[in-house]
Amino acid sequence: MIRKYRYGTPFDTEALTEKIGTAEGGFPYGKISLENGFAFTYIMDEEDIVYGLGESNRGINKRGYCYISNCTDDPEHTEDKRSLYGAHNFIIVSGKTTFGLFFDYPGKLTFDIGYTRTDTMHVFCENADLDIYVIEGETAYDIVKQFRHVIGHSYIPPKFAFGFGQSRWGYTTKEDFCKVAKGYRENHIPIDMIYMDIDYMQDFKDFTVNEKNFPDFQGFVQEMKDQEIRMIPIIDAGVKVEPGYEVYEEGVKNNYFCKREDGSDFVAAVWPGDTHFPDVLNKDARKWFGDKYRFLTDQGIEGFWNDMNEPAIFYSAEGLAEAKKLAAEFAEDTEGRVHAWTMQAKMKDIANNPEDYRRFYHNADGKKIRHDKVHNLFGFNMTRAAGEAFERIDPDKRFLMFSRSSYIGMHRYGGIWTGDNKSWWSHILLNLKMLPSLNMCGFLYTGADLGGFGADTTRDLLLRFLALGVFTPLMRDHAAAGTREQECYQFENVEDFRHVIGVRYRLIPYLYSEYMKAALNDDMYFRPLGFVYPNDKMAVRVEDQLILGNEIMIAPVYEQNARGRYVYLPEEMKFVKFLPDGTISEEILEKGVHYVEVALNEVTLFIRSGKCIPIAETAECVKEIDTEHLQLIGYEESSYILYEDDGIHKEYDKKENYRVLKN
Ligand code: GLC
Repeated sequence: MIRKYRYGTPFDTEALTEKIGTAEGGFPYGKISLENGFAFTYIMDEEDIVYGLGESNRGINKRGYCYISNCTDDPEHTEDKRSLYGAHNFIIVSGKTTFGLFFDYPGKLTFDIGYTRTDTMHVFCENADLDIYVIEGETAYDIVKQFRHVIGHSYIPPKFAFGFGQSRWGYTTKEDFCKVAKGYRENHIPIDMIYMDIDYMQDFKDFTVNEKNFPDFQGFVQEMKDQEIRMIPIIDAGVKVEPGYEVYEEGVKNNYFCKREDGSDFVAAVWPGDTHFPDVLNKDARKWFGDKYRFLTDQGIEGFWNDMNEPAIFYSAEGLAEAKKLAAEFAEDTEGRVHAWTMQAKMKDIANNPEDYRRFYHNADGKKIRHDKVHNLFGFNMTRAAGEAFERIDPDKRFLMFSRSSYIGMHRYGGIWTGDNKSWWSHILLNLKMLPSLNMCGFLYTGADLGGFGADTTRDLLLRFLALGVFTPLMRDHAAAGTREQECYQFENVEDFRHVIGVRYRLIPYLYSEYMKAALNDDMYFRPLGFVYPNDKMAVRVEDQLILGNEIMIAPVYEQNARGRYVYLPEEMKFVKFLPDGTISEEILEKGVHYVEVALNEVTLFIRSGKCIPIAETAECVKEIDTEHLQLIGYEESSYILYEDDGIHKEYDKKENYRVLKN
C-alpha cells in the first residue's frame, strides 16, 4: 500500500508515473517537524536495516552514516563523501517495523541514518515543500516492487549495449578510434562499442564533430558498424558561448538557457570555457535540446552518454571575480592576514559552489524557479530531453543512453554510470554495493568505469574489475586523460582478458533475459541476499555478494593479491568456474561459509539450488552470439525461461519472446 503525505507546495518532479491522492490523517511513522524547514525523525530498532539511496556511498545497509542528496561532480569518491552524482531519495527501514519512504524533494536533502545518534534517523531539508510517499509491505523486497510500480518501467537499451565497450578520455582522431577497434579485433577480445569522449567535438561544442579529425564522420560511423562496433559519443550539459555557433545562437534567441535573476543568460565555465545551461525544466527548451541529438543520429549514431549534468560548474564569472579579489589581497599581503589555506580553499570552492546554484533560474513552464530548489532534476531532464527526442526520431527503435547525474524518474529514459571512480581496489566493492540500491530506485542499466577512471590501473585490478563488470548490464572500461593506457590489449597475456570478456558474451543470453524480466516486471536484476533469504540472519548482513536475476549469486574478488575469498551460501549451491581453457567446472557446495579459489583469469558464479542457466559459445560481438544452441549448466531436471527478442525494437510483449529450456 502506498500513501502520499504532502507538505507545503511541492514542485512537481514527475518522478512518479502514477497519481496518488493525498492521505488523510497524521504521518504514520516517527515525527515530522515543520518548525525549521522540514525534518523527519524516526527511532530505529537495533536490528533494523536501512536500504536504499541508490547511487550513494558506503554499504548496502545505509545505517551509520550521513548522506546528502545533492547531485555533485566530485571525482574523489572517498569514504567521507556524502554526495555523489545522483539523488535517489528512497529508503526502506527493514526490521521490527518495515516500511519504505520516498521523499520527493528536488533540492538538497540530508539523510542522517544513525550518524549523529546511532539509533536515530533524521531526514531534513531547507524548505517544507515536499511529498512523502509511505510504502507498506511484508518485506523490503515487496516494498521495492510496489515503489517500482508507481515510478514507471525502467529504461531498456538495445541488445548491443550488453556487449563490452572501451572508452578513454583523450581519443581524438579517427585514427585513435581505429587503433582501439584494431587492438580488440586483432586480439579477438570481444567488443561492441567504443565511446567518444569530449575530444571528438569541435572545441567541446555539443552537437558538432571536429571535421579535420573526422573528414567523413558518417562514413567513419558506418565503417565501424561494419566491424560490429558502435560509436557512442558524449554530450555535455553546457552549451559553449560562441557567437555564430548555431546551438548557442538558437538558445539565446529563444530564451532556452537558464537565466540570472536579471534575465541575462547565466554563464558557467565547463570544458568549453564559458557555457550556458539549456533550461531542460522548460518543455520547449527540452524539446529543442533533445532534437539536437538528431545531428548525430542522422549520421548513424545509436547511443550516447550524457555528462556534466549535475550540472557541473568549474566556476562562474561571479565566483571567479571573488576568488581573484582574494588572490589580489593574498598577493599583497605581507602580514599573514590571508592564510595560504584560505586561498587554497577559495580556489577549490569556485567549482560546484552552492552560491552559484543560487545564481540562476529555470522557467519551468511559466514558473520562475531558482535552480538550487530543483537542483537534483537537471540530469534527469537533460536525459529526458534525449529520451523524448528518440521517441520522435524513431519510435520503434531503442537507443543507448546513460547519464551521470540522475533523480528517480530518470530511470525511465536511460541508465547511469557511476562516474569518476579510481583505480582502487576499494572501488570494486563500492560499485558492488551500489548495484542493488540502484535497482531499488529503478536504475537497472548501470555499471562503473571498469579498471577505474582516475589514477593508474594495474593488470590484476583491471581483471578483477572486469570479473564484476561481466555481470553489470553496462560493461565499460573507461579511463581519465593522463592515466596509464587501460585497453585490455595493453597488458601481457592478452588471452586472460579475451577469456574474461568472452565469458560475458557466453552469459549474455542469461544476463539479457534477466535484465528484460526485471525491466518488464518492475523487478530487480541485482538483489541483496537479504531480499531472497529474509529469514537467514547471516544472509541479511552480507555486503559483498549479490543475487543476480533468479538463478545465480555472484561473489567477486576485490582484494589485491587475493587468490580467492570467503563466501556465505544461504543454501546449497553449485559453484561454477569458467576456466581459461574454455571449460566450465561445477561443484556442489553445502549451505554455510566456504573459501573458494578464484584465479585472476577465472570468472565464477554460484547457481542456486534446483536451478540452471543457459550458456552460449563465446562470440566477438553481441550479434554473433548463437542463442539457438545453448548449453544449460546447473542442477539437473531443472528448467529456465529464456527471454529473447530482436534487441533492436520494442515488441516486448510477444509470447514468442519466451522459451522454456530444460536441463
Ligand atoms: C567527466 C566524466 C568523465 C569524462 C570526463 C571528460 O569527468 O565523468 O567520464 O571522461 O568528464 O569528458
